[in-house]
Amino acid sequence: MRTSFTPGKIWQDSEGVSIQAHGGCVLYYEGLYYWFGENKNGTTKPGSVVGSSVDAIGVSCYSSTDLYNWVNMGLVLPAVSDSPEHDLHTSKIIERPKVIYNDLTGKFVMFVHVDTPDYRYARLGTATSEKVTGPYKYLGSIIPHNSDSRDMTVIKDDDGKVFLFHSSEWNATMYAGELSSDYCHTTNTFTKNFEQGYREAPVVFKRCGKYYLLSSGCTGWDPNPAQVAIAENILGPWKVRGNPCAGPDSDKTFFAQITFVFSVVGKADAYIAMFDRWNKRDLGASRYIWLPIRFTGETLRIEWMDEWELTCFG
Ligand code: GAL
Repeated sequence: MRTSFTPGKIWQDSEGVSIQAHGGCVLYYEGLYYWFGENKNGTTKPGSVVGSSVDAIGVSCYSSTDLYNWVNMGLVLPAVSDSPEHDLHTSKIIERPKVIYNDLTGKFVMFVHVDTPDYRYARLGTATSEKVTGPYKYLGSIIPHNSDSRDMTVIKDDDGKVFLFHSSEWNATMYAGELSSDYCHTTNTFTKNFEQGYREAPVVFKRCGKYYLLSSGCTGWDPNPAQVAIAENILGPWKVRGNPCAGPDSDKTFFAQITFVFSVVGKADAYIAMFDRWNKRDLGASRYIWLPIRFTGETLRIEWMDEWELTCFG
């Protein structure tokens, strides 16, 4: 049994197998945490437009009671091997899955970045399931806000409204918009943010009535400085507040890229930032870095730790 987080070290599931949940998210539902992510447990092929890639396998899911120990719940949205034109065909890209429960429909909705290996398809795919652990039924993909969509995230606000953030215009501009009540379509309510700012890996969370948007620069699998921006309104305007990472290698986001932030249930002000330390020569061996977020007022600080426990939140 694990009793601490060891960022950057191999993280095995309850069977002793390395966890495959890259570009992921964590959802809390009825007493359990669920970690969804990209399964990249295949051969890394060099020479793709982004340097290297793994044939799509699908989205995996793990469950946990304590956030340290995870049970593999299997592939909940598998890639498709028999229809080359399908969005989820093994020759395609399935990245950054995010899952939200829809109280109105009683379904879990999964969002994925679906793409062709040249990253020109650039769409948002959705899938739904009655059960958190799937199987998720793929509904198809859209071009949100009539503009390309690569790295993306979704956030459910306190009033149940769901917002999509996606890197668009070839990653130059971050679009943010409200989704329809079934979460499967965009609406006319959206804004363009950080125009020509080239931000990707968007991560949004809310604390004390303010919205925080973390993101990375655009250097593919290679690390770059993270950035945080703060807004009173979820659709902006966003005030850029610089790099929240602190300490050694913080200018390279600890050789990693942000993917999600969630709060620990039952603890006050306990937010965990999830990062991927990509290994572009062996993508399936990419490591996970989870670190606590510290706040001083609205200033956010994420500091490297070799090992830490939830008790650090008090
Ligand atoms: C990253 C992006 C990843 C993946 C990668 C491909 O910048 O955040 O999700 O698309 O590029 O190089």
